[in-house]
Amino acid sequence: MIEIKVQEGPFAGIEAGTLIVLGFDGEAPPVVDSVLDGWAGELYASGEFTGKAAESAILHRPSGMKAKRLALAGAGKRDRFDATGMRKAVATAVRTLKGKSLRDLHFWLEHPEFAQAAVEGAILGDFEPDQMKTDPKKGDKRLQSFTVCVAEGSAGSLPDEAISRGRILAESQNFARELKNEPANRLTPLVLAERARQMAAEVGLDCEILDEDRMRQLGMGSLLGVAQGSDNPPALIILRYTPEYASGDDHLALVGKGVTFDTGGYSIKPADGMEKMKYDMGGGAAVLGAMRALAQLKPAVRITALIPTVENMVSGRAQRPGDIVTTLNGKTVEVLNTDAEGRLILIDAITYAIRLGCTHLVDAATLTGAIVVALGYQHVGAFTNNEEFLGRVMTAGKAAGESMWHMPLDEEYKEYLKSAYADLPNIGGRWGGAITAAKFLEEFVEGKPWVHLDIAGTAWLEEGKPYMAKGPSGVPVRTFVNLAMNWGG
Ligand code: BES
Ligand code: ZN
Ligand code: ZN
Repeated sequence: MIEIKVQEGPFAGIEAGTLIVLGFDGEAPPVVDSVLDGWAGELYASGEFTGKAAESAILHRPSGMKAKRLALAGAGKRDRFDATGMRKAVATAVRTLKGKSLRDLHFWLEHPEFAQAAVEGAILGDFEPDQMKTDPKKGDKRLQSFTVCVAEGSAGSLPDEAISRGRILAESQNFARELKNEPANRLTPLVLAERARQMAAEVGLDCEILDEDRMRQLGMGSLLGVAQGSDNPPALIILRYTPEYASGDDHLALVGKGVTFDTGGYSIKPADGMEKMKYDMGGGAAVLGAMRALAQLKPAVRITALIPTVENMVSGRAQRPGDIVTTLNGKTVEVLNTDAEGRLILIDAITYAIRLGCTHLVDAATLTGAIVVALGYQHVGAFTNNEEFLGRVMTAGKAAGESMWHMPLDEEYKEYLKSAYADLPNIGGRWGGAITAAKFLEEFVEGKPWVHLDIAGTAWLEEGKPYMAKGPSGVPVRTFVNLAMNWGG
């Protein structure tokens, strides 16, 4: 765990192994040049460092300074700099420097309004998806401490709250990332449920796990149909957060797809890339990460998290194409494709959320390959039956730096979902697959304000970025947290 500290001082007096300073595009940082007699200006003029994002330069034993190393980190254009820019710039610097085994970093903070983002950047940038590697030296490339440094006399104006909020958020996002990265032979549905229970106990959330028998009694035929092919039993994880003071009667449901492995079932997936389907519980992991943060940040709205978790396998007991299941809300669904399993488990969880009295629903799911075709790896696909509510979710996403794209959900798409033998099929036709998946979910939200986030393209980074390791991203933990924290105002 990284130690986060705050230190005051004149710039030149900061005692540090490595002191990071941001340099904007085309603007040598004045604080550096005032001490180092124009060094940064010359560096910019030479073109070796220009302040673009992801650039870095290190000066050893900067004269007149107590720091042993001065690291310039590119921050991009000043007029476009925001919390996201700060988070990325710090994360990039951390990734560059820890790669050189520099594990105690100081950061000169000139934008206290983005202190939270700076702390997030340090903790998120430090994450590596190497929890299963046994190399005893892997810790050598992990941060030990990150010290936020501010001008003398200004530490008082730096809210401790911003620093601790940054830590809580980033650690919770990393918690989600670790879960996503965990292979399916270890993280079965019941293990995921156990992790949720442990986390809930640590942060003081109420936790209830519905087991297979209970779900059968309730009539969750749709969820159980997906689960029946696996030897690993399913669960419905329910976490409850009740605020001391609620700003109204709203009750938010966060629902996350928790497929610990998706083979596709009898509509089996191709071998190539199937290993990635260990992160098919990415929506559920993000909901758990968000709840971990929210339990500590204490928003003024009641929240229930529901994570239906199953393994989608093939066996003599597995669901067949053509099977018809009866969902918790009584509708029948013809399972035309066993690989469209996410929606089958989500609908029973959504119906249950409504029975628990939830007034607003947001779900996150690695739901369709089609959203990756539509939006690539860039944006979360966002669908809704309520534009006003979507606006709030998108605002939360923008502030979080988790970008979302509003996808259509017109009535006409309902025509794509026709079954000759049941109320609904679980797939539409060939086209608009992300939309028909969303339309299918909408049939179960009973008119409640609802937003569906398809994160199939954004839950996992196929390639690392300067500011983030390859692998699990943790999207949309920060969006969920912002949404709840800004509830009602
Ligand atoms: N888990 C997959 C979707 C997915 C694809 C997640 C790529 C992450 C990356 C989902 O269960 C699925 O298989 N969907 C099918 C639906 C189809 C059968 C209608 C798909 O997208 O191909
Ligand atoms: Zn599938
Ligand atoms: Zn799936």
